Amino acid sequence: MSEHGFVKDILEQTATPFYYYDMDVLQATLAEVNRQIEGYPFRVHYAVKANGNPHILNKIASCGLGADLVSGGEIRAAIAAGIDAHEMTFSGVGKTDWEIRLGIENSIGCFNVESLPELEVINQLAGEMGKKANIAFRVNPDIDAHTHKYITTGTADNKFGIGIEALEQAINHARELPNICLRGLHFHIGSQITLMQPYVMLCDTVNDLLDYYDKRGIHFDMINVGGGLGIDYLEPDKHPLPDFEQYFGTFKKHLKLRPNQLLHFELGRSIVGGCGSLIARVVYVKENRNKKFIILDAGMTELIRPALYDAHHEIQNLTAAPGSPMDTYDVVGPVCESSDVFAHDRRLPVTRRGDLIAIRSAGAYGESMSSRYNMRAMPQSVFAGGE
Ligand code: LLP
Repeated sequence: MSEHGFVKDILEQTATPFYYYDMDVLQATLAEVNRQIEGYPFRVHYAVKANGNPHILNKIASCGLGADLVSGGEIRAAIAAGIDAHEMTFSGVGKTDWEIRLGIENSIGCFNVESLPELEVINQLAGEMGKKANIAFRVNPDIDAHTHKYITTGTADNKFGIGIEALEQAINHARELPNICLRGLHFHIGSQITLMQPYVMLCDTVNDLLDYYDKRGIHFDMINVGGGLGIDYLEPDKHPLPDFEQYFGTFKKHLKLRPNQLLHFELGRSIVGGCGSLIARVVYVKENRNKKFIILDAGMTELIRPALYDAHHEIQNLTAAPGSPMDTYDVVGPVCESSDVFAHDRRLPVTRRGDLIAIRSAGAYGESMSSRYNMRAMPQSVFAGGE
């Protein structure tokens, strides 16, 4: 083990750049999730979009979580990992016919329906296949989760879900369709949410809606409150696991579930974010007039979050001796884009060509958003611990 908590042999023997997954952290995270939901009518469906690496999915499946899916490819990956189809939900504003058929064919637990045209297509395809499809309406609750504008999803002016004002008509229509079984309501207010107040607002909205529909004799088997719980990107070693107690506690306290009603969660980042690091090697250290640059062999192709969202990831020099003198650097990748920057003006130990660098908290939306831009190879992944 290195003093940074990485297995030395793996660091020495693996060609960079690569994703390093600490399976002990993933295991501890999954155990904590299961501990918090035990004894409650709660189901956690892991949002596969955060990381669909088969090894990670297998681990998550073996701990009993379901899957939240947004494409036919993800449905196949979840099936391959052995996740029970009844514990699968299929979300997304643009489900195509073959993807819907794949879901129906496998009798997945629920389609989270985002529009009336989509509802019609699911009804028609299910009829053609002689089956019924379970659905939940994705409701846009118009709650601002105060997160980055590209990952806010629950406000009225973005493309997701059905507005509360149009919901009743949609529900009445769905109840008339022969091949649709309306099971619940679905919400998702955004991602990297670290304050509980938006979730309290969501609970209030759900409670109001349940009261309203109770009075009209309409009951739901299931309420799905989506995902979004954030992780600590600034101090990953201090908080390797998110505060699941506070998160689930918010729903335990504020959401008034009806008897026999299940509460579904679709957590992605909070499950896998902390267990992954991107490991890269310093190709050059270069000095311009007023800046020093660390140029890595990993770039936005391996981890696009800093370039796309200005996201912060902690960066560690794994080679520099503890107590080395410090300097200030821009840490950049090799890709031909000015936005290919991991960090501006970051304080790091004096760094040299050949040093190994870890970019932390990269388990979610890292590998899964990687690309082959500039005809680069897809990143490899290695797994430590977890037995
Ligand atoms: N459910 C739905 C309907 C979603 O759209 C998402 C994420 C999730 C669940 C899982 O959310 P999580 O628990 O991971 O926050 N690429 C961005 C994040 C995009 C999130 C998209 N939707 C990033 O790297 O920050």
